[in-house]
Amino acid sequence: MSTHTPDIKRLFEPRAVAVIGASLDPNKIGYKIVQNIVTNGYVGKVFPINPKGGEILGLRVYPSVHDIPDEIDVALVVVPAKAVFQTVQECAAHGVKFVPIISSGFSEVGNLEEERKIVAYAREHGMRVLGPNIFGLYSVTPSLNASFGPRDIPKGNVAIVTQSGALGVAMIGKAAAESMGLSAIISVGNKADIDEADLLEYLVPHRETRVILMYIEGVKNGARLVQVLKRASKEKPVIVIKAGRSRRGAIAAASHTGSLAGATEVFDAIMRQCGVLRASSIQEAFNWCKFLAISVLPQGAETVIITNGGGIGVIATDACETYSVELYDDLQILEKIFAPLTPEFGSTKNPIDLTGQATAEHYNRALEAARHSETIHAVLALYCETALFDVASFEPMIEGNFHAFQEAGKPVVFSALGGEKVEQLTEMLRRRGVPIFADVTEAVACLGALYTHYRYRSQPEELSQTLEIDTKAIERVLEAARREHRAFLLAHEAQQLLRIAHIPVPKSAIARTLDEAVRSADEIGYPVVLKVVSRDILHKSDVGGVALDLGNPQEVADAYGAILHNCRAYKPNAVIDGIEVSQQVASGMQIIIGARRDPSFGPILMVGLGGIYVEVMKDVSFRALPIGRQDAIDMLKELKSYPLLLGVRGEEKRDIDMVIDVLLRVGSLLLASEQISDIEINPLIVYEHGRGSVAVDARVLLA
Ligand code: ACO
Repeated sequence: MSTHTPDIKRLFEPRAVAVIGASLDPNKIGYKIVQNIVTNGYVGKVFPINPKGGEILGLRVYPSVHDIPDEIDVALVVVPAKAVFQTVQECAAHGVKFVPIISSGFSEVGNLEEERKIVAYAREHGMRVLGPNIFGLYSVTPSLNASFGPRDIPKGNVAIVTQSGALGVAMIGKAAAESMGLSAIISVGNKADIDEADLLEYLVPHRETRVILMYIEGVKNGARLVQVLKRASKEKPVIVIKAGRSRRGAIAAASHTGSLAGATEVFDAIMRQCGVLRASSIQEAFNWCKFLAISVLPQGAETVIITNGGGIGVIATDACETYSVELYDDLQILEKIFAPLTPEFGSTKNPIDLTGQATAEHYNRALEAARHSETIHAVLALYCETALFDVASFEPMIEGNFHAFQEAGKPVVFSALGGEKVEQLTEMLRRRGVPIFADVTEAVACLGALYTHYRYRSQPEELSQTLEIDTKAIERVLEAARREHRAFLLAHEAQQLLRIAHIPVPKSAIARTLDEAVRSADEIGYPVVLKVVSRDILHKSDVGGVALDLGNPQEVADAYGAILHNCRAYKPNAVIDGIEVSQQVASGMQIIIGARRDPSFGPILMVGLGGIYVEVMKDVSFRALPIGRQDAIDMLKELKSYPLLLGVRGEEKRDIDMVIDVLLRVGSLLLASEQISDIEINPLIVYEHGRGSVAVDARVLLA
């Protein structure tokens, strides 16, 4: 592979582009792309290529890329799939940097081999591939519309990266209809080479781009995407629409662009970890994009709702909880600010209820007061139509206040609900960039998205904590399994691995004689548990291979004999490696901790309410590894059962610090050896605060 990879900037800001497969036939894609490039006023040079030569839209057509006198940064490939490889070879010979391949007919229809061959060739020759199976790209800085999408793309500050071509083209249309300006739109198609992470490298520092929207169906190199997204979300809002959430959706996505959709829970959790805003619909994503592209960032969390109707105020209050918007609740200060502006029968508790008699002037005064207050950081202004409504006064009131708030550096969102006149007003103002919604929940959701972004930006950068683990010792444990061609560790080997990572396990020893068993029990302390150790006996308890609660040497001796007898009766030729004597662990709260290599995101960590109900409750949370201590705390706080760890109904708090410690250690253990594919501790028994925890059972699978 060539060590030289071109700067991604040249994809977005090429100095010269070629269109290979440019056609004179106005019905062909090869014509449309040239037409879009020309009519959009691209600042660089354009070279249409077609063996027939001639002229297209006043441009000279070159028979081949070899004939072009200039260096080409981007060569769009618009020839049938079977001709693409040769075209790519010619591009490489001419030193082209990027080849966006419009053509379909590759991995999305099962033709993975050809796709791989093309990418391998391109990379070997220092060239990068966008697509294949794409509609092209638009980039505002050089005024380049190298797509066969709509001709008129509104200029603005939102960049879209889309895995679906058709949806991308539709989004351009919708952006125009919603007056949402774009700074870039890029179709990644099959993502055979260039993926979202590559594109973010350009879009994050790109000045004209204020918000990034991504439509994702499947993630291939998730570990890198996580690194890039974490940095990106610190700079500007990143919104994701992920398809394939439902099971049916996931199947459709798998066959759509030829890539597998990641599991929803993992995807959701990791996006949250990266500060990414997850929109549940295109409309929601567009609302957020438009709002976040213009809104100032808040200076604090205190939000005030100003309304003329109690009901709408209650709906907004509920929505604030859902979207994590904090409502200001210092009643004294609220009264001081708003009492002079609110009728006796109104309310100065948040929501501030100006009552049904409120006119535009009342709103004006209340909004002005909120704007001037240093303790209020954001405002939701809601209006329900009454007989006092008139467009002539409300229109300048809303627009004027929006601009005044922007200047004051304080976010504001409006909602107006009512008949035709109110709807017309809303529509008109929206088109002029004012954040106003008919549906109050949409308004709150926008503010919620802004706050999620704000909180992520404000939180200090967390250093990941990967603990040093003796890799040589791990290697020795894994060696035995490898020798026997096992893809899993035996129970005592798994326990050994946990010991290496300093994760507390019950005291135990393997006894090969009755004397050894009794001596071990004496050393460990009673009561003890005896378990047969044999790869030939999987379900030990079912065959009488386990004895619990043994309180003295006599009981140990009896159980030892009984276990051997039972196992021989069950399988006379079973290889018995010994009998494990272990400390009988006292009961406590049961937690599950798992770490595995996710096909999309690489190493991930899971924690949840454990024991036998884990499958039913599914109360688990995930993170991509490595993580820091705060991440581990957040993982626990996300669990519905977190209050159980804090202790309910007079129970003592559990040893949460110890759970955090085990989480960090399990994560570090997975990262310490590429050969471990899964580690699962279930249960980890957690005792009261200060009394620690113990990993009773562990399963370890090997890659
Ligand atoms: N070098 C230069 N020009 C060539 C070469 C070559 N090696 N080979 C062919 N051409 C010329 C052809 O002569 C033709 O020009 P002409 O009209 O002057 O004869 C032109 O390139 C196009 O070739 P055609 O064989 O006519 O192919 P056509 O234009 O019908 O289709 C295309 C080509 C568009 C690449 C098609 O194969 C394809 O893949 N279509 C699907 C595209 C798509 O949907 N992509 C996903 C987008 S996302 C979404 O869903 C919106």
